[in-house]
Amino acid sequence: MDDNIEQKYEDFISTVSHELRTPLTSIRGFAQTMLVSWDKLDDESKKHFLKIIEEQSNRLINLVENMLSVTRLQSSSQRFVRKELNIKNPVENVISLVKSQYPNQIFEFNCRKDLPDIFVDAGCFQQIMTNLIENSAKYSYGKFKTRIDAGIMNNDVYIKVTNTGLKIDEKDYEHIFTKFARIDNPLTRRVQGSGLGLYITKNLVEKMNGSISVQSVPENENPELSEITFTVSFPITMIEEQARMKCSQ
Ligand SMILES: Nc1ncnc2c1ncn2[C@@H]1O[C@H](COP(=O)(O)OP(=O)(O)O)[C@@H](O)[C@H]1O
Ligand SMILES: [Mg+2]
Repeated sequence: MDDNIEQKYEDFISTVSHELRTPLTSIRGFAQTMLVSWDKLDDESKKHFLKIIEEQSNRLINLVENMLSVTRLQSSSQRFVRKELNIKNPVENVISLVKSQYPNQIFEFNCRKDLPDIFVDAGCFQQIMTNLIENSAKYSYGKFKTRIDAGIMNNDVYIKVTNTGLKIDEKDYEHIFTKFARIDNPLTRRVQGSGLGLYITKNLVEKMNGSISVQSVPENENPELSEITFTVSFPITMIEEQARMKCSQ
């Protein structure tokens, strides 16, 4: 391996180990507390501890899911089962999952009524939305609010995920979608991450004929902060086209 790849690989192992260890330590800690102090704990506390164990397990599952995705994407053995999907419920489910991880974050979801279905693999769609909505909470700065807008533009269904945070330079608009890419700023240094989320997200979106882009616009009141929007779009497909795609998968 050349030095650069080796360095990236070592950074990756150390980040992944950290990301695995944090939730595992918390799961073990709360499980031990419950075992040792079962009789002293009231029902409310037991429920609270179990909730944390559940949330931390979800965090681990997402991380492992992302790591497996990279391997699958590389070996091109990814199986997609694409079907008609109305995005409203899946997006709401992802919001409530991320909300349990980031209880201080406010989520606003504006979904156009009578939004047409999109033609995607439901599991992959969930992974795409989880990565984007989780990032919006994780990288919020100054204001702790995520806005999600879903609508139609030019024969596409679009989903926009917006938060306030530290600016992403235009030169990084493409770069952040590559493997291991993280932006070097004080916030990113403070929060852990592998730099794989957006790489996987872009790959999954494109494999299902969609596209993804980012835009960062400085705020008027405070130019230190920017409004960051990730836009995912999927073409609205005709019934005949869907039937053809179903036959070929
Ligand atoms: N919603 C967002 N707001 C601000 N910065 C973001 C946002 N999403 C992603 N980024 C930046 O893009 C980088 C890559 O994101 P990602 O691929 O999900 O990796 P990770 O979250 O593991 O760092 C992040 O490290 C962060 O610097
Ligand atoms: Mg991420």
